[in-house]
Amino acid sequence: MPRRPVSTPLIVANWKMQLGVAESAERALDLKTRLSGAKGRFQVVVCPSFLSMAGVKKALRGSTMKLGAQDVFWDERGAYTGEVSPVNLREIGAEYVIIGHSERRQLLGETDSMVGRKVISALGHGLTPILCVGETAHERNEGRHELVVARQIISALKTAPPPMGNGRLYIAYEPIWAIGTGEPASPEQALAMHDLIRQTLIELYSLAQVERSFRTLYGGSVTADNVNQYIGPKAYHGALVGTASLQPESFVTVIKHIDQGFTTKHL
Ligand code: 13P
Repeated sequence: MPRRPVSTPLIVANWKMQLGVAESAERALDLKTRLSGAKGRFQVVVCPSFLSMAGVKKALRGSTMKLGAQDVFWDERGAYTGEVSPVNLREIGAEYVIIGHSERRQLLGETDSMVGRKVISALGHGLTPILCVGETAHERNEGRHELVVARQIISALKTAPPPMGNGRLYIAYEPIWAIGTGEPASPEQALAMHDLIRQTLIELYSLAQVERSFRTLYGGSVTADNVNQYIGPKAYHGALVGTASLQPESFVTVIKHIDQGFTTKHL
């Protein structure tokens, strides 16, 4: 069996609405200091609140860490009170954007079709989408988790062109019952969903296109101790981290564990 192409793990910090503007910049600077000199094969993305993005971008200057947003609107400009344009995100230096996080779907009524329009918007403006999918505890208990996640992927991507050239699209599997609960998915549950995601993508695109342009992340109560259970050559390509990304010390431990695990698995 040919091995899957090796990709650098992506480690995304989702800071949600947890930090102040100055605090976000301070933590980004702290992260930069702690990671300076690290020669790891990993890519870190920090997604602060919109208002904190400029300060975080400045703090990350001189590091390899990238800036991401937590949402994007589907249109560039217009009468959309309170929304954030993909053009503005690019202007401020964002390269990644989280789309369809379950908190937005559940608390703000974001639908599959809105998520789909946002994915198209991000791709069209050179932002790498991190499309979040995941089922509720109820859906899993009823045995509908695979159907739900496949539907979320298909409806978000059915009208989206595949990423162009070296562009990538990340699918982040975040079971809602694992977010912020300290109860992550078991490796078996997570890997079964990884395979489902991959199969769903292959049905939408070609195998070659999936290998080239699509990557997966696991999210939901990720810690340094459990993260390597999810990442590997036949598993997820990285992690989407909430709580454990808020303190630079714990986030750096997660990153270093991934780096050590990646090196062991690929050498
Ligand atoms: P936790 O890591 O706090 O479970 O949050 C996960 C998440 O929602 C990241 O997007």
